[in-house]
Amino acid sequence: MNERTAPRGKASGNSNIGDIDARRREFKWNRARQEAGLPEGGPFNIGWLCTDRICESGSGEKTALIWQSSTDEIKRFSFDDLRRYSNAYGRYFTDLGLDPGDRVAVFMDRTPDLYIGFLGGLKAGLVMQPLFSAFGEEALEQRLRNAGTRAILTSRKLAFRIRKIRDKCPALEHVIIIEPGDLQMKEGEQAFGIADAEPLDSFTCYEAKEETPSILHYTSGTTGQPKGALHTHGSLPAQALTTKWVLDLKKDDLYWCTADPGWVTGTSYGILGPWSLGVTQLVLDGGFTVNRWYEAIQNHGVTVWYSAPTAIRMLMKEGIEGAGQFDLSSLRHLASVGEPLNPEAVIWSQEAYGRPFHDTWWQTETGAMMVTNLPGMEIRPGSMGKPFPGITAAVLDEANKPIDEPNKPGQLAVRPPWPSIFRAYWEREEAYKSKFVNGWYLTGDQACIDEDGYFWFMGRDDDVINTGGHLVGPFEIESALLGHEAVAESAAIGKPDKVNMEVVKAFVALKAGFEPNRKLEMSIMNFIRKKLSPLAMPQEIEFVDKLPKTRSGKIMRRLLRAKEWGEEVGDTSTLEDD
Ligand code: PRX
Repeated sequence: MNERTAPRGKASGNSNIGDIDARRREFKWNRARQEAGLPEGGPFNIGWLCTDRICESGSGEKTALIWQSSTDEIKRFSFDDLRRYSNAYGRYFTDLGLDPGDRVAVFMDRTPDLYIGFLGGLKAGLVMQPLFSAFGEEALEQRLRNAGTRAILTSRKLAFRIRKIRDKCPALEHVIIIEPGDLQMKEGEQAFGIADAEPLDSFTCYEAKEETPSILHYTSGTTGQPKGALHTHGSLPAQALTTKWVLDLKKDDLYWCTADPGWVTGTSYGILGPWSLGVTQLVLDGGFTVNRWYEAIQNHGVTVWYSAPTAIRMLMKEGIEGAGQFDLSSLRHLASVGEPLNPEAVIWSQEAYGRPFHDTWWQTETGAMMVTNLPGMEIRPGSMGKPFPGITAAVLDEANKPIDEPNKPGQLAVRPPWPSIFRAYWEREEAYKSKFVNGWYLTGDQACIDEDGYFWFMGRDDDVINTGGHLVGPFEIESALLGHEAVAESAAIGKPDKVNMEVVKAFVALKAGFEPNRKLEMSIMNFIRKKLSPLAMPQEIEFVDKLPKTRSGKIMRRLLRAKEWGEEVGDTSTLEDD
């Protein structure tokens, strides 16, 4: 490979990881706490480790968070601010009568209260349940009901959405609204937030053990409603160490993770990893525009940037000239996650920013990066890299046995345990058990491994749709569609898209008396946007007389998908006769 196709990060040489081969050979997870600088015998409480411990080590005055609002107002919080305000939250939650283990949701835009309330809840031993602020009523209700969530921290704007579903969530006792202004509070609603709270100097954190539940993140599968992946306080060495070695964060870095904490990247690498290492991070609330993002890097001097292929493709659309209008020279290391990172994007970023994006692969269930391009490692554009030290990954054949032959596709699998692996799907034990076979955790992704041990992503092994790095389950969309008066039945699939990789397309059979037309199409689209989220909204609806089904009545999404992607249709022997 020549220089152009085999970029190397500038972080090589003096990277945190140093000698990669030696690390791989010598690595043991039981030394990870020490390696990440975490106290070995505890405390294990993540909230404490990300705030108090950093202050105790003498960095209390250091900026932890630079927050830029959607209207470009800027606020700074030191580690001591994080510590004292999260204490205030911890005390408030406890005084409210919430007990360790209770599920408490955070449902708001990327405001400081989201981050600080989240840490405060962890300090109090609560199981924090981040919910993406664009979730509509149905998406919200499902997650709150399934988790038996007792309290939700939200904003004035989103409180109205919660009110609509409140009586369907019997476990939900408290709705805590930050900055409610003149909002007339209803029963069970109360105001709290850092704008009014007194920072608290001391709070006795819940004495979490490594196995104490910490975070519940919902993720989509092919069948059924989204499942809650449960994580523990003992996960932190995995997040801290991958942050240190893959993102290469050093004490003077200014780090920017563009993900929302509604998704696992936004918590593992937008809260836990960087703050557990005492690193300053930027949070940019509000929407994406190319100029706004480049200005943020330039004005704040971002050095390490963790983002997603969809965003990179949007930046590529503006061309190298777009990047050239800004001073982006502060950037020293770039990484990406969530979807396949096209080889062109790796090469382009080398040209536009003078360094390549380093692809990383992982999932909500894995809690931390599993397959990565480490700084200093030769990058093969289009490859996800190699397993992180201490991680054993393989591709399995149909019998769930590892495939030895290079470049032969199979299901990507990882051998447990590692600290951040999920411990349950909340109240879905069978679904959880089905993810473990022959001592492997099955990822649901197809991949292959080349002769040099590089992993290449091939696609999903199931029907889950990945739109702009966000997973959406077809079943969620199809069952929500049934709530629309005109829909008799439907099938949702991912359709190829240049920027978002996939967008949702729905095939809809109408009830008698309804005629397909543009107005109806718009009405169905909006219905899903409101009920689920803008991500789940079909970008296209195709009206059909009937859907292809197996003889047992299961909709064959595979057929519809193959047609859409121009692929071979494959075996149709189980297809229902006409
Ligand atoms: O299909 C893979 C894709 O995203 C899935 C995990 O999604 P989620 O649990 O929402 O977590 C996303 C962020 C960690 C995977 O099963 N995916 C993730 N990273 C990559 C990827 N696909 C290709 N290349 C990647 N680097």
